[in-house]
Amino acid sequence: MKILVVGSGGREHAITWRLANDPVKHDLFCAPGNAGTAAIATNVDVGAEDVAAVTAWARANNPDLVVVGPEAPLVKGLVDELSKIGVPAFGPVASGAKMEGSKRFAKEVMDAAGVPTGKAEVHTDPAAAKAALTKFGLPVVIKADGLAAGKGVIVAETTAQAEEAIDDMLVANKFGSAGAEVLIEEFLDGEECSILAMTDGETAVLLPSSQDHKRIFDGDKGPNTGGMGAYSPAPVVTDDMLPEIKEKIILPVVRELKKRGTTYRGILYAGLMITPEGGKIALSGSKVNVVEFNARFGDPETEAVLVRLGGSFADALLHAATGRLKDEDIVVKDEVAATVIISSGGYPGSYEKGKVISGLDEAAKTGAIVFHCGTKKSLDDIVTSGGRVLSVTGTGATIREAVDKAYAAVGCISFDKMFYRKDIAHRAFDRN
Ligand code: AMP
Ligand code: GLY
Repeated sequence: MKILVVGSGGREHAITWRLANDPVKHDLFCAPGNAGTAAIATNVDVGAEDVAAVTAWARANNPDLVVVGPEAPLVKGLVDELSKIGVPAFGPVASGAKMEGSKRFAKEVMDAAGVPTGKAEVHTDPAAAKAALTKFGLPVVIKADGLAAGKGVIVAETTAQAEEAIDDMLVANKFGSAGAEVLIEEFLDGEECSILAMTDGETAVLLPSSQDHKRIFDGDKGPNTGGMGAYSPAPVVTDDMLPEIKEKIILPVVRELKKRGTTYRGILYAGLMITPEGGKIALSGSKVNVVEFNARFGDPETEAVLVRLGGSFADALLHAATGRLKDEDIVVKDEVAATVIISSGGYPGSYEKGKVISGLDEAAKTGAIVFHCGTKKSLDDIVTSGGRVLSVTGTGATIREAVDKAYAAVGCISFDKMFYRKDIAHRAFDRN
Protein backbone atom coordinates (compact mmCIF):
# COMPACT_ATOMS: atom_id res chain seq x y z
CA MET A 1 0.00 0.00 0.00
CA LYS A 2 1.02 3.60 -0.51
CA ILE A 3 0.58 5.27 2.91
CA LEU A 4 1.08 8.85 4.11
CA VAL A 5 1.63 9.41 7.85
CA VAL A 6 0.88 12.99 8.92
CA GLY A 7 2.94 14.44 11.79
CA SER A 8 6.53 14.76 12.97
CA GLY A 9 6.84 13.32 16.48
CA GLY A 10 7.73 10.07 18.24
CA ARG A 11 4.17 8.87 17.73
CA GLU A 12 4.41 9.29 13.98
CA HIS A 13 7.85 7.63 13.89
CA ALA A 14 6.36 4.68 15.81
CA ILE A 15 3.37 4.45 13.44
CA THR A 16 5.70 4.56 10.43
CA TRP A 17 8.08 2.04 12.02
CA ARG A 18 5.21 -0.36 12.75
CA LEU A 19 3.98 -0.06 9.15
CA ALA A 20 7.54 -0.68 7.92
CA ASN A 21 7.53 -3.92 9.97
CA ASP A 22 4.34 -5.28 8.37
CA PRO A 23 4.56 -8.69 6.66
CA VAL A 24 4.25 -6.98 3.25
CA LYS A 25 6.26 -3.97 2.16
CA HIS A 26 4.57 -0.59 1.84
CA ASP A 27 5.49 2.63 0.10
CA LEU A 28 5.71 4.98 3.10
CA PHE A 29 5.64 8.79 3.24
CA CYS A 30 5.64 11.23 6.17
CA ALA A 31 4.45 14.82 6.21
CA PRO A 32 6.69 16.36 7.39
CA GLY A 33 8.32 13.52 9.43
CA ASN A 34 11.67 13.87 11.21
CA ALA A 35 15.23 12.52 11.01
CA GLY A 36 14.00 9.11 12.25
CA THR A 37 11.21 8.68 9.73
CA ALA A 38 13.63 9.76 6.97
CA ALA A 39 15.47 6.46 7.47
CA ILE A 40 12.40 4.28 6.81
CA ALA A 41 10.10 6.48 4.67
CA THR A 42 10.15 9.44 2.32
CA ASN A 43 9.66 12.72 4.16
CA VAL A 44 7.59 15.22 2.22
CA ASP A 45 7.93 18.91 2.90
CA VAL A 46 4.34 19.55 3.94
CA GLY A 47 3.35 20.80 7.41
CA ALA A 48 1.07 18.49 9.44
CA GLU A 49 -1.38 21.31 10.16
CA ASP A 50 -1.53 22.58 6.59
CA VAL A 51 -4.81 20.91 5.64
CA ALA A 52 -4.82 22.36 2.11
CA ALA A 53 -1.24 21.25 1.39
CA VAL A 54 -1.72 17.70 2.76
CA THR A 55 -4.94 17.38 0.73
CA ALA A 56 -3.15 18.65 -2.40
CA TRP A 57 -0.37 16.09 -1.87
CA ALA A 58 -2.99 13.33 -1.51
CA ARG A 59 -4.79 14.47 -4.67
CA ALA A 60 -1.54 14.42 -6.63
CA ASN A 61 -0.15 11.17 -5.20
CA ASN A 62 -3.30 9.13 -4.61
CA PRO A 63 -2.27 7.15 -1.50
CA ASP A 64 -4.23 4.07 -0.40
CA LEU A 65 -4.37 5.46 3.14
CA VAL A 66 -3.52 8.60 5.12
CA VAL A 67 -2.86 8.16 8.86
CA VAL A 68 -3.25 11.38 10.84
CA GLY A 69 -1.12 11.57 14.02
CA PRO A 70 -1.76 14.88 15.86
CA GLU A 71 -5.04 16.41 16.98
CA ALA A 72 -4.69 19.83 15.31
CA PRO A 73 -5.24 18.69 11.70
CA LEU A 74 -8.10 16.42 12.85
CA VAL A 75 -9.84 19.32 14.59
CA LYS A 76 -9.24 21.45 11.47
CA GLY A 77 -11.03 18.89 9.30
CA LEU A 78 -8.22 17.17 7.38
CA VAL A 79 -10.11 13.87 7.31
CA ASP A 80 -13.26 15.63 6.02
CA GLU A 81 -11.22 17.10 3.15
CA LEU A 82 -9.56 13.79 2.32
CA SER A 83 -12.92 12.05 2.24
CA LYS A 84 -14.18 14.63 -0.28
CA ILE A 85 -11.45 13.51 -2.70
CA GLY A 86 -12.04 9.82 -1.95
CA VAL A 87 -8.81 9.12 -0.03
CA PRO A 88 -9.30 6.77 2.95
CA ALA A 89 -7.98 8.37 6.14
CA PHE A 90 -7.41 6.98 9.62
CA GLY A 91 -8.63 9.53 12.15
CA PRO A 92 -12.00 11.10 12.98
CA VAL A 93 -13.72 13.85 11.02
CA ALA A 94 -13.77 17.29 12.69
CA SER A 95 -17.13 16.69 14.38
CA GLY A 96 -15.60 13.59 16.04
CA ALA A 97 -12.28 15.25 16.91
CA LYS A 98 -14.38 17.65 18.98
CA MET A 99 -14.26 14.92 21.66
CA GLU A 100 -10.72 16.21 22.26
CA GLY A 101 -11.13 19.78 21.01
CA SER A 102 -13.93 20.69 23.42
CA LYS A 103 -14.10 19.31 26.94
CA ARG A 104 -17.63 20.68 27.21
CA PHE A 105 -18.73 18.72 24.15
CA ALA A 106 -17.03 15.57 25.47
CA LYS A 107 -18.96 15.93 28.75
CA GLU A 108 -22.25 16.41 26.90
CA VAL A 109 -21.65 13.26 24.87
CA MET A 110 -20.62 11.29 27.97
CA ASP A 111 -23.64 12.47 29.94
CA ALA A 112 -26.01 11.61 27.07
CA ALA A 113 -24.39 8.17 26.71
CA GLY A 114 -24.31 7.45 30.47
CA VAL A 115 -20.52 7.14 30.54
CA PRO A 116 -18.94 7.37 34.04
CA THR A 117 -16.89 10.58 34.44
CA GLY A 118 -16.36 13.38 36.95
CA LYS A 119 -19.43 15.53 37.56
CA ALA A 120 -18.91 18.96 36.02
CA GLU A 121 -20.48 22.36 35.45
CA VAL A 122 -19.71 24.76 32.59
CA HIS A 123 -19.35 28.51 33.30
CA THR A 124 -18.60 31.68 31.37
CA ASP A 125 -19.22 34.14 34.22
CA PRO A 126 -16.39 34.31 36.80
CA ALA A 127 -18.66 35.18 39.74
CA ALA A 128 -21.05 32.32 38.99
CA ALA A 129 -18.09 29.96 38.52
CA LYS A 130 -16.64 30.91 41.90
CA ALA A 131 -20.03 30.60 43.59
CA ALA A 132 -20.32 27.06 42.19
CA LEU A 133 -17.07 25.96 43.85
CA THR A 134 -18.77 25.29 47.18
CA LYS A 135 -20.73 22.43 45.58
CA PHE A 136 -17.52 20.58 44.67
CA GLY A 137 -15.39 20.59 47.82
CA LEU A 138 -11.58 20.30 47.62
CA PRO A 139 -9.52 19.42 45.73
CA VAL A 140 -11.44 20.61 42.65
CA VAL A 141 -10.43 20.60 39.00
CA ILE A 142 -10.69 23.70 36.78
CA LYS A 143 -10.44 23.11 33.02
CA ALA A 144 -10.37 25.37 29.98
CA ASP A 145 -12.90 24.07 27.42
CA GLY A 146 -10.61 24.09 24.36
CA LEU A 147 -7.16 22.87 23.32
CA ALA A 148 -4.54 24.49 25.57
CA ALA A 149 -1.46 22.37 24.84
CA GLY A 150 -1.96 20.31 27.99
CA LYS A 151 -1.81 23.40 30.22
CA GLY A 152 -5.52 24.15 30.58
CA VAL A 153 -6.17 21.87 33.58
CA ILE A 154 -5.58 22.99 37.14
CA VAL A 155 -6.07 20.61 40.04
CA ALA A 156 -6.73 23.15 42.82
CA GLU A 157 -6.02 22.16 46.41
CA THR A 158 -7.43 25.41 47.85
CA THR A 159 -10.34 27.71 47.02
CA ALA A 160 -7.84 30.51 46.35
CA GLN A 161 -6.09 28.40 43.70
CA ALA A 162 -9.42 27.50 42.10
CA GLU A 163 -10.48 31.16 42.00
CA GLU A 164 -7.14 32.17 40.51
CA ALA A 165 -7.53 29.54 37.76
CA ILE A 166 -11.04 30.79 37.01
CA ASP A 167 -9.75 34.38 36.77
CA ASP A 168 -6.83 33.32 34.55
CA MET A 169 -9.27 31.74 32.10
CA LEU A 170 -12.35 33.96 32.22
CA VAL A 171 -10.89 37.36 33.16
CA ALA A 172 -7.23 37.46 32.07
CA ASN A 173 -7.88 35.31 28.95
CA LYS A 174 -4.62 33.44 29.55
CA PHE A 175 -5.74 30.61 27.25
CA GLY A 176 -7.41 32.80 24.63
CA SER A 177 -10.63 31.40 23.19
CA ALA A 178 -9.78 27.93 24.61
CA GLY A 179 -10.52 29.38 28.06
CA ALA A 180 -13.67 31.33 27.20
CA GLU A 181 -15.65 28.60 28.96
CA VAL A 182 -14.45 26.76 32.05
CA LEU A 183 -15.45 23.43 33.46
CA ILE A 184 -15.49 22.97 37.19
CA GLU A 185 -15.05 19.26 37.75
CA GLU A 186 -15.20 16.77 40.56
CA PHE A 187 -11.73 15.59 41.61
CA LEU A 188 -11.28 11.89 40.84
CA ASP A 189 -9.13 9.86 43.19
CA GLY A 190 -6.90 7.10 41.85
CA GLU A 191 -4.33 6.03 39.28
CA GLU A 192 -4.52 7.04 35.62
CA CYS A 193 -4.11 4.89 32.56
CA SER A 194 -4.61 5.17 28.83
CA ILE A 195 -6.84 2.97 26.71
CA LEU A 196 -6.48 3.46 22.97
CA ALA A 197 -9.53 2.00 21.24
CA MET A 198 -9.51 1.52 17.48
CA THR A 199 -12.95 2.03 15.99
CA ASP A 200 -14.61 2.10 12.58
CA GLY A 201 -17.70 3.94 13.84
CA GLU A 202 -19.63 0.73 14.63
CA THR A 203 -17.34 -1.69 16.35
CA ALA A 204 -14.22 -1.12 18.47
CA VAL A 205 -11.11 -3.07 19.46
CA LEU A 206 -9.08 -2.10 22.52
CA LEU A 207 -5.32 -1.90 22.03
CA PRO A 208 -3.18 -3.00 25.00
CA SER A 209 -3.42 -0.69 28.04
CA SER A 210 -0.64 1.74 28.89
CA GLN A 211 0.34 4.45 31.34
CA ASP A 212 2.30 7.60 30.68
CA HIS A 213 4.37 9.81 32.99
CA LYS A 214 3.18 13.38 32.63
CA ARG A 215 5.42 15.23 35.10
CA ILE A 216 8.99 16.23 34.28
CA PHE A 217 10.78 14.89 37.38
CA ASP A 218 11.13 11.49 39.05
CA GLY A 219 8.43 10.64 41.56
CA ASP A 220 5.87 12.50 39.40
CA LYS A 221 7.09 15.91 40.57
CA GLY A 222 7.33 19.24 38.76
CA PRO A 223 5.32 20.66 35.88
CA ASN A 224 3.27 18.67 33.38
CA THR A 225 4.87 17.78 30.05
CA GLY A 226 3.69 16.11 26.87
CA GLY A 227 4.78 12.83 28.54
CA MET A 228 8.21 11.66 29.77
CA GLY A 229 7.75 7.93 29.35
CA ALA A 230 5.24 5.13 29.11
CA TYR A 231 4.84 1.42 29.51
CA SER A 232 2.41 -1.23 28.40
CA PRO A 233 0.46 -2.99 29.77
CA ALA A 234 -0.52 -0.93 32.84
CA PRO A 235 -1.21 -3.40 35.68
CA VAL A 236 -3.71 -0.96 37.25
CA VAL A 237 -6.05 -2.07 34.46
CA THR A 238 -6.98 -5.64 35.26
CA ASP A 239 -8.37 -8.00 32.63
CA ASP A 240 -11.83 -7.96 34.18
CA MET A 241 -12.06 -4.20 33.57
CA LEU A 242 -11.52 -4.43 29.81
CA PRO A 243 -14.98 -5.63 28.72
CA GLU A 244 -16.51 -2.98 30.99
CA ILE A 245 -14.32 -0.25 29.46
CA LYS A 246 -15.39 -1.33 25.99
CA GLU A 247 -19.11 -1.78 26.72
CA LYS A 248 -19.68 1.08 29.17
CA ILE A 249 -17.24 3.73 27.90
CA ILE A 250 -15.98 3.28 24.33
CA LEU A 251 -19.01 1.83 22.50
CA PRO A 252 -21.60 4.13 24.15
CA VAL A 253 -19.57 7.15 22.97
CA VAL A 254 -19.21 5.76 19.44
CA ARG A 255 -22.97 5.09 19.32
CA GLU A 256 -23.88 8.51 20.76
CA LEU A 257 -21.71 10.22 18.15
CA LYS A 258 -23.35 8.14 15.43
CA LYS A 259 -26.75 9.26 16.70
CA ARG A 260 -25.52 12.83 16.32
CA GLY A 261 -24.49 12.17 12.71
CA THR A 262 -20.78 11.47 13.20
CA THR A 263 -19.22 8.18 12.16
CA TYR A 264 -16.11 8.19 14.37
CA ARG A 265 -13.24 6.33 12.73
CA GLY A 266 -9.73 6.16 14.13
CA ILE A 267 -8.47 6.05 17.71
CA LEU A 268 -10.73 7.02 20.58
CA TYR A 269 -8.24 7.45 23.41
CA ALA A 270 -9.78 7.27 26.86
CA GLY A 271 -7.73 8.71 29.72
CA LEU A 272 -9.16 6.82 32.69
CA MET A 273 -8.92 7.18 36.45
CA ILE A 274 -9.06 3.88 38.31
CA THR A 275 -10.12 4.24 41.94
CA PRO A 276 -8.06 1.98 44.21
CA GLU A 277 -9.51 -0.38 46.78
CA GLY A 278 -10.54 1.85 49.68
CA GLY A 279 -10.26 5.05 47.59
CA LYS A 280 -12.94 7.71 47.40
CA ILE A 281 -15.66 6.49 45.01
CA ALA A 282 -16.70 9.09 42.42
CA LEU A 283 -20.25 10.48 42.29
CA SER A 284 -20.80 8.33 39.19
CA GLY A 285 -20.55 5.30 41.50
CA SER A 286 -18.03 3.67 39.14
CA LYS A 287 -14.45 2.61 39.93
CA VAL A 288 -13.41 3.48 36.39
CA ASN A 289 -14.06 7.06 35.22
CA VAL A 290 -13.13 9.02 32.12
CA VAL A 291 -10.77 11.94 32.76
CA GLU A 292 -10.58 12.96 29.12
CA PHE A 293 -10.90 11.73 25.58
CA ASN A 294 -8.35 12.28 22.85
CA ALA A 295 -9.06 11.80 19.17
CA ARG A 296 -5.72 10.21 18.26
CA PHE A 297 -2.94 7.89 19.35
CA GLY A 298 -1.29 9.04 22.60
CA ASP A 299 2.31 10.18 22.70
CA PRO A 300 4.43 8.55 24.19
CA GLU A 301 1.94 5.68 24.76
CA THR A 302 2.07 4.79 21.05
CA GLU A 303 5.80 4.13 21.23
CA ALA A 304 5.14 1.51 23.94
CA VAL A 305 1.91 0.03 22.53
CA LEU A 306 2.62 -0.40 18.81
CA VAL A 307 5.81 -2.42 19.31
CA ARG A 308 3.57 -5.04 20.96
CA LEU A 309 1.30 -5.46 17.94
CA GLY A 310 1.73 -8.26 15.40
CA GLY A 311 -0.09 -8.91 12.13
CA SER A 312 -0.67 -6.30 9.44
CA PHE A 313 -0.98 -2.85 10.97
CA ALA A 314 -1.83 -1.31 7.58
CA ASP A 315 -4.81 -3.64 7.23
CA ALA A 316 -6.06 -2.77 10.71
CA LEU A 317 -5.82 0.97 10.02
CA LEU A 318 -7.42 0.64 6.58
CA HIS A 319 -10.22 -1.54 7.91
CA ALA A 320 -10.99 1.03 10.63
CA ALA A 321 -10.86 3.87 8.10
CA THR A 322 -13.29 2.08 5.79
CA GLY A 323 -15.79 0.59 8.25
CA ARG A 324 -14.57 -3.03 8.17
CA LEU A 325 -12.71 -3.42 11.49
CA LYS A 326 -12.67 -6.88 13.10
CA ASP A 327 -11.29 -8.19 16.41
CA GLU A 328 -8.75 -10.27 14.48
CA ASP A 329 -7.19 -7.11 13.03
CA ILE A 330 -5.41 -6.48 16.32
CA VAL A 331 -2.85 -9.11 17.26
CA VAL A 332 -1.00 -8.59 20.56
CA LYS A 333 2.42 -10.16 21.01
CA ASP A 334 3.40 -11.90 24.21
CA GLU A 335 5.84 -9.24 25.43
CA VAL A 336 5.71 -5.98 27.34
CA ALA A 337 7.26 -2.61 26.54
CA ALA A 338 8.69 0.45 28.27
CA THR A 339 9.53 3.82 26.72
CA VAL A 340 11.88 6.47 28.09
CA ILE A 341 11.68 10.00 26.67
CA ILE A 342 14.92 11.93 26.32
CA SER A 343 14.26 15.67 26.42
CA SER A 344 16.20 18.90 26.02
CA GLY A 345 17.35 20.40 29.34
CA GLY A 346 14.85 23.06 30.43
CA TYR A 347 11.81 21.40 28.84
CA PRO A 348 8.84 21.93 29.40
CA GLY A 349 10.09 25.50 29.90
CA SER A 350 12.51 27.11 27.46
CA TYR A 351 15.34 25.01 26.00
CA GLU A 352 18.00 25.21 23.31
CA LYS A 353 17.88 23.43 19.96
CA GLY A 354 20.51 22.32 17.46
CA LYS A 355 22.53 20.10 19.84
CA VAL A 356 24.40 17.30 18.07
CA ILE A 357 23.16 13.86 19.19
CA SER A 358 25.76 11.09 19.51
CA GLY A 359 25.50 7.37 20.21
CA LEU A 360 22.39 6.58 18.13
CA ASP A 361 24.09 3.67 16.33
CA GLU A 362 25.33 2.15 19.60
CA ALA A 363 21.85 2.55 21.11
CA ALA A 364 20.29 0.68 18.19
CA LYS A 365 22.71 -2.23 18.75
CA THR A 366 21.25 -2.84 22.23
CA GLY A 367 18.05 -4.16 20.66
CA ALA A 368 15.97 -1.23 21.90
CA ILE A 369 14.15 0.93 19.36
CA VAL A 370 15.00 4.62 19.22
CA PHE A 371 12.10 6.69 17.95
CA HIS A 372 12.77 10.30 17.04
CA CYS A 373 10.49 13.02 18.45
CA GLY A 374 12.22 16.33 17.87
CA THR A 375 15.25 15.81 15.65
CA LYS A 376 16.48 16.92 12.27
CA LYS A 377 19.40 16.27 9.98
CA SER A 378 22.07 18.92 9.76
CA LEU A 379 24.79 18.01 7.25
CA ASP A 380 26.07 14.64 8.56
CA ASP A 381 24.72 15.10 12.07
CA ILE A 382 21.37 14.51 13.71
CA VAL A 383 20.56 17.47 15.95
CA THR A 384 17.85 18.28 18.50
CA SER A 385 14.91 20.33 17.25
CA GLY A 386 12.31 20.09 20.03
CA GLY A 387 11.61 19.68 23.74
CA ARG A 388 11.05 15.95 23.55
CA VAL A 389 13.93 14.66 21.44
CA LEU A 390 13.97 10.85 21.44
CA SER A 391 11.67 8.10 22.62
CA VAL A 392 13.54 4.91 23.51
CA THR A 393 11.52 1.69 23.75
CA GLY A 394 12.67 -1.61 25.20
CA THR A 395 10.68 -4.83 25.06
CA GLY A 396 10.96 -8.02 27.08
CA ALA A 397 9.21 -10.84 28.87
CA THR A 398 8.86 -8.72 32.01
CA ILE A 399 8.54 -5.02 32.69
CA ARG A 400 11.95 -5.12 34.45
CA GLU A 401 13.55 -6.54 31.31
CA ALA A 402 11.86 -3.96 29.07
CA VAL A 403 12.84 -1.04 31.33
CA ASP A 404 16.47 -2.24 31.64
CA LYS A 405 16.73 -2.60 27.87
CA ALA A 406 15.40 0.91 27.30
CA TYR A 407 17.80 2.45 29.85
CA ALA A 408 20.77 0.52 28.41
CA ALA A 409 20.08 2.21 25.08
CA VAL A 410 19.51 5.62 26.73
CA GLY A 411 22.96 5.21 28.33
CA CYS A 412 24.57 5.09 24.87
CA ILE A 413 23.06 8.42 23.80
CA SER A 414 24.31 11.87 24.67
CA PHE A 415 23.89 15.52 23.79
CA ASP A 416 24.47 18.77 25.64
CA LYS A 417 21.92 19.26 28.48
CA MET A 418 20.14 15.96 27.76
CA PHE A 419 17.54 15.00 30.38
CA TYR A 420 15.40 11.95 31.14
CA ARG A 421 13.45 10.43 34.02
CA LYS A 422 15.08 7.48 35.79
CA ASP A 423 11.89 5.93 37.22
CA ILE A 424 9.78 4.91 34.23
CA ALA A 425 7.20 2.25 35.17
CA HIS A 426 7.66 2.89 38.90
CA ARG A 427 3.96 2.28 39.54
CA ALA A 428 4.23 -1.18 38.01
CA PHE A 429 7.25 -1.95 40.22
CA ASP A 430 5.53 -0.52 43.30
CA ARG A 431 2.83 -3.17 42.93
CA ASN A 432 5.28 -6.06 43.17
P1 AMP B 1 -6.75 16.38 30.93
O1 AMP B 1 -6.12 17.37 30.00
O2 AMP B 1 -8.23 16.51 31.05
O3 AMP B 1 -6.28 14.98 30.71
O4 AMP B 1 -6.14 16.71 32.37
C1 AMP B 1 -4.75 16.71 32.61
C2 AMP B 1 -4.44 15.99 33.87
O5 AMP B 1 -5.11 16.60 34.98
C3 AMP B 1 -4.93 14.55 33.91
O6 AMP B 1 -4.04 13.70 33.28
C4 AMP B 1 -5.08 14.31 35.39
O7 AMP B 1 -3.82 14.00 35.96
C5 AMP B 1 -5.53 15.63 35.92
N1 AMP B 1 -7.00 15.63 36.00
C6 AMP B 1 -7.87 16.06 35.05
N2 AMP B 1 -9.14 15.92 35.46
C7 AMP B 1 -9.09 15.38 36.69
C8 AMP B 1 -10.07 14.99 37.65
N3 AMP B 1 -11.37 15.17 37.43
N4 AMP B 1 -9.64 14.48 38.82
C9 AMP B 1 -8.32 14.32 39.08
N5 AMP B 1 -7.35 14.68 38.23
C10 AMP B 1 -7.72 15.20 37.05
N1 GLY C 1 0.29 11.10 26.55
C1 GLY C 1 -0.83 11.95 26.60
C2 GLY C 1 -1.36 12.34 25.30
O1 GLY C 1 -0.98 11.86 24.26
O2 GLY C 1 -2.26 13.17 25.29
